[in-house]
Amino acid sequence: MSIRIKMLLSFTGMLVISLLFILLTASLYTIAATGDLQSFRDIYKVHYQVNPLTEQGETIFQEMKFLAKNDPDELQNKVLLREYDMKLRAEKSGLYVRRENSQIFESLTFNQPELKQALPAYDLNNNQIRSTFNISERFYAYAKFDFHYSDGERGSIFVIRERSPFAELTRKLLPVMSLLLIGVLIIANLLLFRWITRSFIKPLNQLRSSAEHIKDGNLSFKLELRSNDEVGQLSEAFESMRNQLQRSNELRQQDEANRRELISNISHDLRTPITNIKGYIEGIRDGVANTPEKMETYVNIIHAKAVSMDKLVDELFLYSKLDLNQEPFLFKVVDLVDFLEDSIEELRYDLEDKGVALDWDNRTSGPVMASVDLDKLKRTVVNVVDNALKYMENEHKRFGITLQADDEWTTIAFKDNGRGVPEEALPHIFERFYRAEQSRNSSTGGSGLGLAIARQIIDGHGGFIWAESKPNQGTIIYIQLKRLNEAEELMGNDEHFDHRG
Ligand SMILES: Nc1ncnc2c1ncn2[C@@H]1O[C@H](COP(=O)(O)OP(=O)(O)O)[C@@H](O)[C@H]1O
Ligand SMILES: [Mg+2]
Repeated sequence: MSIRIKMLLSFTGMLVISLLFILLTASLYTIAATGDLQSFRDIYKVHYQVNPLTEQGETIFQEMKFLAKNDPDELQNKVLLREYDMKLRAEKSGLYVRRENSQIFESLTFNQPELKQALPAYDLNNNQIRSTFNISERFYAYAKFDFHYSDGERGSIFVIRERSPFAELTRKLLPVMSLLLIGVLIIANLLLFRWITRSFIKPLNQLRSSAEHIKDGNLSFKLELRSNDEVGQLSEAFESMRNQLQRSNELRQQDEANRRELISNISHDLRTPITNIKGYIEGIRDGVANTPEKMETYVNIIHAKAVSMDKLVDELFLYSKLDLNQEPFLFKVVDLVDFLEDSIEELRYDLEDKGVALDWDNRTSGPVMASVDLDKLKRTVVNVVDNALKYMENEHKRFGITLQADDEWTTIAFKDNGRGVPEEALPHIFERFYRAEQSRNSSTGGSGLGLAIARQIIDGHGGFIWAESKPNQGTIIYIQLKRLNEAEELMGNDEHFDHRG
């Protein structure tokens, strides 16, 4: 059974119960007031029938009743009757006395011809002493008593009291008004039902259709539900779930795209040297290398290609291990000044060979300690220096290394005066396989992994690496590493492994 139906049933049930309750209360009230249920139909008359007169009127009525029983002829005494009438007038009541068809006495208030017709016929058993009648718009309640005069003729006394016409109107309209009230009750009930169901049936439906969207893989819709109640909280939770799903979906798609691109780059970069090697070997096989010199050239080329392939595979392997966090870092506290001076010593021959002037600018005093994985940091420096050498084709080649440090950070800058990186390429050079000139021609060599590996390594040190470059003026690669203070130097003096995560 749907919530909607349940709500409808419970609302209707409540309505029926309250109506029954009203009816029951009314009938209990009637029983208590009249002693039987017969008069239930006339419940709205009861009050007047039981109690038509005021207290004073009632006393006079009882006195006259007593006279009617014991000394009926006194009830023709106009003086006495006028006296009673005077008293009754103070109570807004009046008197009417008849004998057979003629009237003995009538209060001035009721001086109207219809009164005679409106009064009930003789009933000497006096079954109904109290009742009501109306003459056009005016409404009266009365008490009456029928008796015999001493000569045997019938007589009646009426003590009559006029009631408010509003009371009569109410009495008349009571059934209509009751129906109207019940109608209002039902309409109010329906409106409340609508309000309640709208406040959560509608959002629930929206939630359901959203869940169906999600099931169908459509995550890019937005759930627009604003309310402060529990339903609102539910939709908020739902919305954040959808966001989360969408984000992880996008990440998955991104990963997927990366993987595809990676595979296609790897295949491309491996195919080129393999094709070359194949070509030269076929040349040898077909006897194209027919002199020892030619043969040597061919073999040297094949060797160089194999070496570059080996390097590429090696870089790929390192990059993927770093990328998967499977390459352990062996941290050691070292003096970066020592480290850089050692590296420069190793580079010096290479640089001189290529005619590059070297500037080593140490702007610090004393040791600059840092916790680093020496092999990996060396690899980073080699990759950066390799690039500088590779992309300097100008005449006066200069390469500079600058070391700077404050209390917290050490910054190493590698500066060349080569061709620089085009502005639009600069944000991408640390991405894997990215090369500023997209031809992927292998004459300038690289795989596009050098700086990607450098970044992975510096990330693993909790440091930063970035580049500044001006086309045709040169490039600066900055590496920033955390500097150790003295207490940390002492603590971190032992080697330790760290798996990044
Ligand atoms: N010192 C530099 N001078 C000019 N361009 C550079 C320099 N260093 C890096 N680049 C650009 O950044 C790209 C990415 O560098 P890298 O990741 O080392 O790949 P690779 O050197 O294998 O091409 C290079 O292809 C080159 O376009
Ligand atoms: Mg490189």
